[in-house]
Amino acid sequence: MNVGSLIERVRNKKYITETDMLEFGSMISNPIVSDAQIGAFAMAVCLNGLSLEARVGLTKGMRDSGDQLVWDLPGPVLDKHSTGGVGDPVSLLLAPALAACGAYVPMISGRGLGYTGGTLDKLESIPGYSSDISKERFQGIVKKIGLAIVGASADVAPADQRLYKIRDVTATVDSLDLITASILSKKLSAGLDSLVLDVKTGSGAVIKKFEKSELLARSLIGVANGAGCPTVALLTDMSQPLVNAAGNGLEVNSVMETLSGLKVNDRLLEVTIELGSELINLNDPSQSLKDSRCLLKSSISSGRAMEYFSRMVFEMGGPKNFESEWVNYLPQASVVKEIRANKVGYIDRIDTEVLGQVVVILGGGRQTESDEIDPSVGLSGLMEIGNKVDLTIPLAIVHASNEQDIIRVAALVRGAFSISNDFKPPPNLIHRLESK
Ligand code: URA
Repeated sequence: MNVGSLIERVRNKKYITETDMLEFGSMISNPIVSDAQIGAFAMAVCLNGLSLEARVGLTKGMRDSGDQLVWDLPGPVLDKHSTGGVGDPVSLLLAPALAACGAYVPMISGRGLGYTGGTLDKLESIPGYSSDISKERFQGIVKKIGLAIVGASADVAPADQRLYKIRDVTATVDSLDLITASILSKKLSAGLDSLVLDVKTGSGAVIKKFEKSELLARSLIGVANGAGCPTVALLTDMSQPLVNAAGNGLEVNSVMETLSGLKVNDRLLEVTIELGSELINLNDPSQSLKDSRCLLKSSISSGRAMEYFSRMVFEMGGPKNFESEWVNYLPQASVVKEIRANKVGYIDRIDTEVLGQVVVILGGGRQTESDEIDPSVGLSGLMEIGNKVDLTIPLAIVHASNEQDIIRVAALVRGAFSISNDFKPPPNLIHRLESK
């Protein structure tokens, strides 16, 4: 392939076939293509975009640059991907709920970077849980117990790993076409039967504007289906965290409360049930959305999802009795302090990104990939949009490793909550894409 002429075609907005783009996508991990060429390609895509056909080719090529999983299991292989948010531990509830409904869930997840959290960081707040396991062990655990949540090895879509590093230094990270190929090249290498996408929108999402989130959702659905993986997407609201907590161990605690029925987090449950039922129905249309919702709800309320979660924790190196003893296993911060409102009224808006940044300042998130994180810190008891507050009511409880950090974040936490005299209901949690 003549890489220079392919870049020229993208630069000049010329027609590019799926096959040409597939070949280029698979070559991105090969040193015969230079960093300069990949950077020029990324910038041309960022400025001019790619047709659906070309995006499908790029995604398939990048997927094919690495290992792919093949399954022979007695049930469907299902997964979800989220574009990321703050206080969003849906994967930890959805994966065991799907497994308890008879699906197999090989979930390859990521770590948090910046203000959005990462599923692996949350799970690794459980003592002993190690998300870094061999491909063979990953496949063995999924076959044995129905689910495993692990990190991507260097062999998964290496083309994406190289392209992402170059995008990061060439101002091309926010191209929707490149985001699409990046997300799906990794997800589709897991050999899925069907996929559901949770595309976040609102103040705690990476893409905050509804219209842009919708464009990304349409691009992801078009490309995933075009690459042969039946896929559906929901747009879900991140104007506030899905649970009343943000921070790794604190979010696991919220999931355990929901799995055990001790304190059900309603927004977390609703998003989980809606994503899961769309996925079950997509994979097997004879299961209506209504039936799928019932199936998932009962998998959680009966405690079966909790059993699957606990089995996974044990298989991945965590304690055997996490399901009954999680409160004693999850890390506790040294200093815990309430932050109160300084005004009476109703919470009408939350700057959820700021809450995510507070977690990073406390040491619970990363500014750069190599940062170590403290799983015990974060926020709990978060007030919600529509809640009435006065000077005696805490807006949030800060969990920190020292008093100084509490002083550093107090004004930020208070400022993240906007309080008005009038009640405003929370935004719709779930949006379905209209067919065009
Ligand atoms: N997540 C990814 O995996 N890649 C992107 O480019 C953006 C989000």
